[in-house]
Amino acid sequence: MKIIFIGDIFGRPGREAVKKALPEYREKYGAHLVIANAENIHHGKGITEDDLHEMQKAGVDFFTSGNHVFKERAIIPFMDSKRVPLVRPANYPQNVPGRGYEIVEGGLKQRVLVINLMGRIFMPMHLDCPFRAADKILEETRHEQLAAIFVDFHAETTSEKMALAHYLDGRVTAVVGTHTHVPTADERVLSGGTAFQSDAGFTGPIDSVIGAEKKGIIEHFLSQMPVKHEVASGPTVFNSCLIEVDDKTRKAVSIERLQRYFN
Ligand code: FE2
Repeated sequence: MKIIFIGDIFGRPGREAVKKALPEYREKYGAHLVIANAENIHHGKGITEDDLHEMQKAGVDFFTSGNHVFKERAIIPFMDSKRVPLVRPANYPQNVPGRGYEIVEGGLKQRVLVINLMGRIFMPMHLDCPFRAADKILEETRHEQLAAIFVDFHAETTSEKMALAHYLDGRVTAVVGTHTHVPTADERVLSGGTAFQSDAGFTGPIDSVIGAEKKGIIEHFLSQMPVKHEVASGPTVFNSCLIEVDDKTRKAVSIERLQRYFN
């Protein structure tokens, strides 16, 4: 099977880039499942159900998130409902709303376990160990018939991401990072058969500082005063990766970056 994973969709410009790029990519590569990180989808921070519906219409099947998942509070009461096709990092403290993994049905009825985890280095919150959280989920789902296991590791540092990928190598189909908004050129299939890319990069306005209007961010660095982050406008980038999965072994055959710019 083939899975497309789209890096953090940032605000309206990001959503528009998905609408322009995804239908063509989905058809061209015959993707069976499209997953996207949605934590920045609503005006740069947070998620609403309307945003998710808009992206479902464009061809996204399921969504992961990260540290901004709870910024738009209206979605919180519905995060445990199956009507919201969204997971939040599994290593949040116990009893936090939402779920950290879900088995999603892709094209040809293939069942894919989607796991969302968050890193702990330079992340301003106290989280459970993502490595042990992954072990626990794999143990809980070991009897499931799965075509693939996809992990979105929402983390800041390449070292933590690479370490988790090696830790899970051979046990999951793919570990792809999000959160930095910058795509890395290290995509490869590890020795045990797990596809890995440190960061898929973001989908949104490229003439910006990781999506935000650059003037305000520069002002913040100069003054250290708080500034309101505004979503930038102008040209956009669509960043994603395509993972091909061996249907018999559940291991990755390949991982390839798919990137497109729009004026
Ligand atoms: Fe993030």
